[in-house]
Amino acid sequence: MSKNFDVVVIGGGPGGYIAAIRAAQLGFSTACIDEWKNAKGGAAPGGTCTNVGCIPSKALLQSSEHYEHAGHAFSEHGIEVKGLSLDMKKMLARKDTVVKQNNDGILYLFKKNKVTFFHGRGSFVKAVDGGHEIKIAGATEESIIAKHVVVATGSNPRVLPGADFDERLILSNTGALAIAEVPKRLGVIGAGVIGLEMGSVWRRLGSEVTVLEALPAFLGAVDEQVAKEAQKQFTKQGLAISLGVKIGAITAGKDDVTVNYVDDKGVAQKAVFDKLIVSIGRIPNTIGLNAEAVGLKLDERGFVAVDGDCKTSLANVWAVGDVVRGPMLAHKAEEEGVAVAERIAGQHGHVNFNTIPWVIYTSPEIAWVGKTEQQLKAEKVAYKTGSFPFLANGRARALGDTTGFVKFLADAKTDEILGVHIIGPQASELISEAVVAMEFRASSEDIARICHAHPSLSEAVKEAALAVDGRALNF
Ligand code: FAD
Ligand code: NAI
Repeated sequence: MSKNFDVVVIGGGPGGYIAAIRAAQLGFSTACIDEWKNAKGGAAPGGTCTNVGCIPSKALLQSSEHYEHAGHAFSEHGIEVKGLSLDMKKMLARKDTVVKQNNDGILYLFKKNKVTFFHGRGSFVKAVDGGHEIKIAGATEESIIAKHVVVATGSNPRVLPGADFDERLILSNTGALAIAEVPKRLGVIGAGVIGLEMGSVWRRLGSEVTVLEALPAFLGAVDEQVAKEAQKQFTKQGLAISLGVKIGAITAGKDDVTVNYVDDKGVAQKAVFDKLIVSIGRIPNTIGLNAEAVGLKLDERGFVAVDGDCKTSLANVWAVGDVVRGPMLAHKAEEEGVAVAERIAGQHGHVNFNTIPWVIYTSPEIAWVGKTEQQLKAEKVAYKTGSFPFLANGRARALGDTTGFVKFLADAKTDEILGVHIIGPQASELISEAVVAMEFRASSEDIARICHAHPSLSEAVKEAALAVDGRALNF
């Protein structure tokens, strides 16, 4: 006999597991189905983010930063490290432990919230009286009935034609997070978020990193001033970044891979790498859902088509996260998951796309929320700006990390904050203040009048807000 649930979530990544927990909190009988397997074949909920994305990449970014600092940054503090060495096996094992702690944490949260977890692939069978029949193919096969279904099946890395991932020489994010030995020559195709974060990890650990990017502009979606500073810093650190390239044939040999490309001057080039990371974006994952058979509509780019409330073309079927339009970010997926659970409960779930923060966890970190200066110009919005460099911030000087700045963009008339852009230490944490301010539709004057602890990096945020009105105090 089939089990019946009020809500069944297909996919246990940040969108799915959070939707399931919120639905259970709201009193619904809830199940979550996820097919991710750990190395031993066991359940590993958390999706891309936990297993081969946000969490392991940040674990390796931290380890590699410690290594780099121990190598030279400590010496200016009068700390000499002798006999520095790298145990790659241990570093990767630590990363795996961090991932497992997160997998186990989600399983614990399911238990705590009485979410029934199924390990296997979920697919639509047919509409039935009172909902949808969902098949679960795991160690065994079973069917359940759901009044509401939330599709949260995430995304997969985009394959560069002619360069299939073998995860030995040509690596997706999965392989890039598990290289057993530091490659001497690392190639990266795509100077996006993954390319820069993973390029940074392996450069810090000793690789010569070459980044090949198709677009002529570096980090085109980022505020131009920030992108310019970032390019300067990454180049100074030793990342060889080539923009405006056209990738040609890629050939994997026995132990290396050759990339033919045409550079921005139209000259044919050939580069040989020990490993090649291909990070050219991600595509929605609807494989195995049986979407077509039940009439679940996809849009022209393969995303599950949804309206502003995450409703799909099928009654009582919702979709959230990377598998639908919008930024492919874990926190966006989570917000949509919560909002959908609340809408199912008849509440007014809410996601504000204008205040979703972006962070690139390089060094310096880059973080922003709202509009860039080039967007405001294109939209012909009258704005004013204020910036403050970390060089003039006491805490940044004490930390020995004075790269970058905070930049405010505010409406010329009303002073409402339209965007905040940070490049520098702890930008990922500092951006939250701007997100809160923008969510409350604050003006730059509001931030400028708030007392910030001294000495703290957050004073740079206050000072940039003061600078909008030309009255920064420390610069
Ligand atoms: P996913 O996390 O992809 O989860 C989908 C889950 O559904 C998977 O477990 C999958 O196995 C499962 N599934 C799919 N189909 C089925 C099926 N039919 N039945 C059962 N289960 C199924 N975002 C950030 O915000 N911050 C970061 O720092 C960050 N770092 C990243 C680093 C890397 C290297 C990568 C690749 C991504 C990173 N992201 C980051 C993006 C983030 O991982 C995604 O936006 C996020 O995981 C999307 O969540 P999701 O729930 O929509 O999908
Ligand atoms: P991306 O969209 O960030 O960058 C892809 C880059 O590849 C772009 O600059 C693009 O112009 C370039 N490109 C595309 N085709 C190319 C080609 N044929 N040759 C050369 N360059 C080419 O995608 P990425 O880095 O793969 O990451 C996917 C997504 O994962 C991100 O967009 C982001 O949503 C998410 N992510 C988020 C992180 C974070 O929040 N810190 C970290 C990592 C990933």
